[in-house]
Amino acid sequence: MSDATRTGTFITLEGIDGCGKSTQAALLAEKIEAAGREVVRLREPGGTRISEKVREILLDPENAEMADECELLLYEASRAQLVRQVVVPALERGAVVLCDRFYDSTFAYQAGGRSLDESLVERCNELGCCGVHPDRTIVLDLDVERALARATADGTDRLEAEGVAFQQRVRDAYLRLAEAEPARVRLVDADGGVDEVAERILSALADLVGDGARHE
Ligand code: TMP
Repeated sequence: MSDATRTGTFITLEGIDGCGKSTQAALLAEKIEAAGREVVRLREPGGTRISEKVREILLDPENAEMADECELLLYEASRAQLVRQVVVPALERGAVVLCDRFYDSTFAYQAGGRSLDESLVERCNELGCCGVHPDRTIVLDLDVERALARATADGTDRLEAEGVAFQQRVRDAYLRLAEAEPARVRLVDADGGVDEVAERILSALADLVGDGARHE
């Protein structure tokens, strides 16, 4: 399946840890469903039996010795399985696939946060996504210290444990992406009430999911 021949819509949500993505993904899924489209809600890493096992390895704070290259390849492995097993069939039957994180997270965290070579990470992303690219990517942008405080309120995973400077590099990488690919990647201010932020997201998606979703 090429990007040009599919009938579904592929939307990804991105941002630093604690930016409010999961809450917004749930709200967005409800609105799009209420407007009459099938929504397949996914998260990365995860979403298949194999990908969820890889997720456990990736986020386990006990795996502190993990090499950056191992981390990169595990994210790609988890992604390839999700794309082949779930994303492609859903897009082929015309669903809206709403994925909490996708390959822009790898760019932001492994190239930005870990400082791995950007072009190498982009090539790995191309393999991991199996040639399937999002139609639109929403980056929820929020101050790093506030977001991290929120993310770690009920426990800290291996990536969150990297701290504020790491999250700042991740945020900077997202800002660069939004500048480099303005048609696909839309920066949304995540500072504000839940409904206010939801409205900003819907207006950045109006051409893809229709205005119907905004009024549900
Ligand atoms: P989350 O599901 O709570 O957002 O946790 C996923 C964590 O994994 C989060 O800290 C971001 C990180 N991550 C990467 O470092 N690279 C990736 O490619 C993806 C998908 C996530």
